[in-house]
Amino acid sequence: MIKKSTININKDNLVILTTSIEKMKEYGFKKEQHSFILSESKLDKKTIQLNCLNRYVFIVLVDNKIEDYKRKEQLRRAACNVNSTLNSHHFKSVSVIAETLHDEDLLAFSEGLLLSNYQFINYKSKQEKNSLSTVIIDNNISKSKIDELNGIIEAVYESRNLVNEPANKLNAVDLANHFKKMANKAGFSIQIFNKQKITELKMGGLLAVNKGSVDPPTFSIMEYKPKNPKNKKPYVIVGKGITYDTGGLSLKPTPGSMDLMKCDMAGSAAVAGAIYAVAKAKLNVHLIALVPATDNRPGFNAFAPGDIITMYDGTTIEMLNSDAEGRMILGDALAYAKKFKPELLIDLATLTGAAANAIGPQGIVSMGTADEPIHQKLKDSGKSTYERLAEFPFWDEYDELLKSDIADMKNIGGPVAGAITAGKFLAKFTDYPYIHLDIAGPAFITSANYYQTKGATGVGVRLLFDFFKNL
Ligand code: BES
Ligand code: ZN
Ligand code: ZN
Repeated sequence: MIKKSTININKDNLVILTTSIEKMKEYGFKKEQHSFILSESKLDKKTIQLNCLNRYVFIVLVDNKIEDYKRKEQLRRAACNVNSTLNSHHFKSVSVIAETLHDEDLLAFSEGLLLSNYQFINYKSKQEKNSLSTVIIDNNISKSKIDELNGIIEAVYESRNLVNEPANKLNAVDLANHFKKMANKAGFSIQIFNKQKITELKMGGLLAVNKGSVDPPTFSIMEYKPKNPKNKKPYVIVGKGITYDTGGLSLKPTPGSMDLMKCDMAGSAAVAGAIYAVAKAKLNVHLIALVPATDNRPGFNAFAPGDIITMYDGTTIEMLNSDAEGRMILGDALAYAKKFKPELLIDLATLTGAAANAIGPQGIVSMGTADEPIHQKLKDSGKSTYERLAEFPFWDEYDELLKSDIADMKNIGGPVAGAITAGKFLAKFTDYPYIHLDIAGPAFITSANYYQTKGATGVGVRLLFDFFKNL
C-alpha cells in the first residue's frame, strides 16, 4: 500500500522522478556515483539504477513534453522494472519523491509499482511471495487521494483474483458469495437471486445456458447509494459472469480455445471491482452493478443449437450456437435493468473472439446507443487509465444479420462483424442510453505487459472508477 511518511533520502530505497538529470547535483551523490549517473543518461537510459549496497536509488527521467496521459503511462511502466529489482533483493519498502511538476506523477508511479506487485500464488505449495509491500511518499498530496488510489489497487487485485481463480474453485454461487464479502468490506448492498428466484422471474437466457451445468446460476444485484447522489437516475454496470465457457454443445476445440475460459467472468469481476472502489472512495454517485452468472457446459440436458428460448422480456431467440452464450445471460440482465431507468448502462463482457482478433489485448472494443459526448467521456477515462477504447460502428444495417425465420432473433450474426452483431443483439434488450464494452482482448493475457501481470489484468476497474469520478 501507499503510505504518507517522512522520507530519509540517505537511507531509504529511493526513487527520484525528475525531468532533468541536472537536478541530481543537489542530492549529494558521491563523485563516482554522479559520473555514473551522467554516463547512463548519455546512453539515453530512462531509469538509472544505483546499487548502494544496502539500498537502491533509482532515477527515473520523466518526459514533460508529451501528452499528460502518455507521461502517466510511462511512469506506471517505468515502475515495473523498479518493482522487480526491489523484490529480487527482498526489500519491503521504497520511498518515492518527485522533482516534476505534477502530483499525478507520484501517484501514477506508485500505481505502477503496486499493480506490478500482484501475484496469484495461493495454490503453490512453495510460495515465493514478493517482499515489497509499502510505497512511501511525502509531499502535499491529500490523504484522501492516497486512500482513493489504495482502494483502486485493492479493487484491481480483487478483480484479478476472481478471474485467476479456476472454475473448479469458483462457480456461480461462489462468485456471488465473494461479491457479498466485497460488499461488506467496501460498504455497498447486495441481493443474490438463487435458481428458484431466477426461475420465478423467467430469466430464460440465463436458465438456458445453465441447463448443461450441475451448479445453479446466480443473479447478483449490487448497489451503492450515497445520501445525496449527484445523479437522479442510477448508473448501471453489468458484467458477464460465465465462470467457465466450454462452448456448450457447440464445444470449443481444445487445446487452445478453451484453456483460458475461466476468464469468461472477467466482466463481472470488473463491475464488482468498480463498485468496490467507488464505495470505498465514497464517490457521490448512485451506482448499481448486475451480474448474471453460470458456467456454460455440454451437460446432459444442455441447450442445443436450434432451441428456441424465451428471454426475461419475452423476446424469443433461435439459439443456433451455444458458444454465443454471453449474450443470452446478458440479454436478461439488460432487460431486467429497465426497471432502474438507468441514466446510462455500461456492460463489460469477454463477449467475442472477433473483438479480440480485431484489436488485440491493446484495447477495449466499444459501441452503443449513448450520446457521443458521454461515450467520449468514457474514452477520455480510457486514455487517462490507459484502458483505451476503440469505438466500432453501430449502424442499423447490422440488425439485419440477426433476423430469424422462426423467432424474433437469432443468437448469431453472419460470418462478418461478429463483435458488432453481438453488441446489436444486446442493444435489443435496452431502452436507455447504452454502451457495450467487449473486453475479450485485454481481460486475460498470456505474458505480462508491464504492470499488467500475466493472467487476469483487472481491466475495466480503473476505467470505470475514473469515469464515475469525473462525471
Ligand atoms: N467467451 C467467448 C469469447 C472469448 C473469446 C472471450 C476469446 C475471451 C477470449 C464467447 O462466449 C464466444 O465463444 N463467442 C463466440 C461467438 C460466436 C459463436 C458467434 C466467438 O467469439 O467465437
Ligand atoms: Zn462462448
Ligand atoms: Zn463466453
